[in-house]
This record gives sequence, structure tokens and C-alpha cells, in this order.
Amino acid sequence: MKKKVLAMMLTAAMAATMFVGCGEKKEAEAPAASSATSEAAEETEATAEETADAAIEKIIFATNPEFPPFEFITPDGVIGEFDGIDMAIAAKIGEMAGVEIEMQSMEFDSLLVALQNGQIDATIAGMTVTEERAKSVDFTTPYYTATQVMIVKEDSEIAAAADMDGKAISVVQGYTGETVVQELGYEYEAFKKGTECIMELMNGKCDVVVIDSATAQKYVADNAGLKIVEDVEAFGAEEYAMAVQKGNTALLDLLNTAIEEMLADGTISELSAQYIDA
Ligand code: ARG
Repeated sequence: MKKKVLAMMLTAAMAATMFVGCGEKKEAEAPAASSATSEAAEETEATAEETADAAIEKIIFATNPEFPPFEFITPDGVIGEFDGIDMAIAAKIGEMAGVEIEMQSMEFDSLLVALQNGQIDATIAGMTVTEERAKSVDFTTPYYTATQVMIVKEDSEIAAAADMDGKAISVVQGYTGETVVQELGYEYEAFKKGTECIMELMNGKCDVVVIDSATAQKYVADNAGLKIVEDVEAFGAEEYAMAVQKGNTALLDLLNTAIEEMLADGTISELSAQYIDA
């Protein structure tokens, strides 16, 4: 079924390319009386050909570098000042595909908008694949499995998601943690950054923070007196993937090829272990 759809899409794409090719030729050949025109015609043809088999030379990624260990800012990162599991993966993709990688920084909420507007080519941001998001962008093969967890003070009585009922809950705006708490039907306060939620918790202004597992581990390691509470029944598995503009199959294929290779040869687990243990 999937294959069939893909084949149909390919045929459609080829037909579209051929159509463009023919159209250009006709236009170019018709008034080919003066040499100036035919030169122009040749140029047009060459450009069309170049575009047809043009390899991707550069990928402009964007991330929100406030999500350790996946992306954070450090003086000496793997891509300029950007470091983390995702950044190392992006750098590897650059090496593997022989393409230049540019990394831009933006708010998490702006990533998919920037992608839809064509401001960037792809996102790499520990972003969970959701049905809602998949309506507006195309996701790559997932490269990491995560889940939401609760961060509480060490002496907290919260032991399951249901214990959050009536408690002061903090989440990051636009993260899946917010969606999950919404779906559980609890009231919460949303902050711009994970670190703000942690401050609230440390200062006793909230009782619990709901956020992705690996990021939670990092915060708990960095801030004394906190612990993680899991609830596998309440919080399901989430998969992180990169995203491209809908229909950008050339880039999607390039990314998927690299991701699948890095999953198969253990590169992604090695990188994850490296940053999570650090
Ligand atoms: N996995 C969560 C989501 O997709 C949080 C991702 C946050 N990523 C970031 N780079 N700030 O909503």
C-alpha cells in the first residue's frame, strides 16, 4: 500500500518534471530566429537540466537549543556554538551526504512555521512526531524513543500521574508535555523554557514539572533535591524525528538514508550514550 502510493507520487513527480522540460523547450525554440534568443534558450535548457539533477549542497536546519542533552549552547559545540545529540547527528548527516550544514536557533513554537514558510529546510529539535504536526510537515524516520516524566522535589508524595490532580503543574509551552497534561484534564502553567519550570519547582512555586525523559534526567543531575517519577501507563512512548516541508521528498530521502544508516550501525545510540552520560 505504502509502496504503491510512493510509486504514484514518483510517477507524478516525473511527469511534472517532463512537463516543465517540454514547456521550456517549446517556448525557447519557437522564436529562435536571432542568435541572442537561441543563446538565451540554451541557457534556459542548461538551467533546467542542472535543476533536474541538482544535488542538495546545503541544509539549513533550525532547532531550539534549550533542550539538553539534545540541543544546547556551549562555547565549543559540534556545529559552532550548538551542541547535543541532535547537533552531532546533524553534523554526521553533513559528513555522510557531503552537504554543508547550517544551524539556526529559534523558539520551539516557531520551528514548524519557519519550515512551512520555507525559511529553513528542516528541523532537528527532539521533536515528537504527532498527528497534529504531521498535518503541516513531513517527518523523517524516527531516530529516538522518549516519554514524558514528572520531576518533583525529593520529598514529594507524587508517585503517579493521577497524583498531580490539584497540584501546581508546570510545563513548557508547545511541548508534548503540555498536550499530555491537557489531555489528563489538569490545570497547569506553561513557561517558555524548561529551566524556568525547574526554577519554579526549586523555589517551591510549583509541585511538579512534566517534560521529556532525557531532558528531565539532565535537570535532575544539575539541580540537587529533585527526582524523577515515571508513569508508563499515563505517559506513552514518543518518537523524535526531523521534519521537512510537505512534499520535499529529495531532502526527506537524504535524511532518511542517513538516519537509517546511523540507526543500523549504532551511531545514534553511541552519540546518545555519550551525551546522556556526560
Ligand atoms: N519532545 C517534545 C515535543 O516535541 C519537546 C521538544 C523540545 N525541543 C526543543 N528543542 N526545545 O514537543
